[in-house]
Amino acid sequence: KPISIVGMPSDLGQGRRGVDMGPSAIRYASAQSLIKRLGYEVEDLGDIAIPSPESIDMGSSSLKYLSAIKQVNEQLAGVVSDVVERGRFPLVLGGDHSMAIGTIAGIAKHHKNMGVIWFDAHGDLNTGETSPSGNIHGMSLAVSLGIGHPDLVNIGGFAPKINPEKTVIVGARELDLGERELIKNLGIKVYSMHDIDRIGMAQVMEEAISIVSQDTDGVHLSLDLDGLDPKDAPGVGTPVPGGISYRESHLALEMLAEANILTSAEFVEVNPILDRENQTAKVAVALMGSMLGQTVI
Ligand code: ARG
Ligand code: MN
Ligand code: MN
Ligand code: MN
Repeated sequence: KPISIVGMPSDLGQGRRGVDMGPSAIRYASAQSLIKRLGYEVEDLGDIAIPSPESIDMGSSSLKYLSAIKQVNEQLAGVVSDVVERGRFPLVLGGDHSMAIGTIAGIAKHHKNMGVIWFDAHGDLNTGETSPSGNIHGMSLAVSLGIGHPDLVNIGGFAPKINPEKTVIVGARELDLGERELIKNLGIKVYSMHDIDRIGMAQVMEEAISIVSQDTDGVHLSLDLDGLDPKDAPGVGTPVPGGISYRESHLALEMLAEANILTSAEFVEVNPILDRENQTAKVAVALMGSMLGQTVI
């Protein structure tokens, strides 16, 4: 399928500046030329316009920048929906993880029964009530499942976007209390670092792929770079030690390529200010290569 790149230079959903430069850093790491080299037709639609946090009101401290985040995600949803409508694969670059609200809203307009792989150290399953930070990047998976503030949940004009039974989290190692309760209540499958250590990434991905691909009409990969170990991906705002290794992450994406199930993807939370020599953006691009079928031979 031809690929459409969309940049979402948002930093409104989290507390540390710099993640708004993520899309530039990923482009600078030669994403487009790699994708072309792998034989895909690719276009870059540029960035969604995001107001800088200094220029707007933060609003309530339990849902910081709610109104701006709603507005920019409505825009992203529209752009992503157009990409899908044109028969192309949306590849969205971020940006803080609140952008998944817009990405998933845009895709779910066309895929009513989609599977989601949420590759992340975190669950992003908070609400305004359970969030320890008020940062909306920690709420985007809950919102996509139809849980949270109605202004976010109803982005795109319908809810929920996805089904908990077809949602799998890979790499979790830091979940808040409310998130753990929600996981139990909804029955979301979580492969924590414990599971990856215990059964290995190959087995984890085999199971994850079978969950998200059975009885679904598309699979979205939402890849938060903080799912990787901070040694391999230091340029993230909320690093947690003990993460997925560079090699395990490549294996995971190679297995997704082999299974040939993905219909969209986003690479999020790249923060060049906290990075070392653009290492995290380079990792993101290398992982895109594996996701798109790059092999050694
Ligand atoms: N659970 C924490 C919170 O709600 C951290 C969330 C981190 N999320 C992320 N997309 N990096 O604030
Ligand atoms: Mn995270
Ligand atoms: Mn362990
Ligand atoms: Mn995340």
